Amino acid sequence: MPPQRLQHTPETYPKFQTQFKKVALLRDMINWCIENPLEGKKLADDDPQMKALEAYILSQRAGKTVEPGKH
Ligand code: HEM
Repeated sequence: MPPQRLQHTPETYPKFQTQFKKVALLRDMINWCIENPLEGKKLADDDPQMKALEAYILSQRAGKTVEPGKH
């Protein structure tokens, strides 16, 4: 996901993700991208790489306005 998307259309998690039919955490979306578009192996919750990705995404979203209905 390009950095511009992180900054211009930040999404909020946890939220109900219709394609999963359940509530998804940010790390669930990260692992979805790793397993599907990237065809990789998902990261464990306590993997330092997962923590780094979560920290990066949250830092890019800090202070951004979330518009109702767009996320
Ligand atoms: C390290 C690489 C990646 C990370 C950390 C990552 C992370 C994320 C996250 C957190 C979301 C949730 C949307 C949001 O909160 O703004 C997302 C959504 C999405 N990403 Fe990625 N992504 C990665 C790579 C990719 C790649 C390579 C593709 C496609 C070529 C991709 C396609 C998508 C799509 C289609 C969605 C929307 C899914 C949905 O909400 O239905 N991602 N990604």
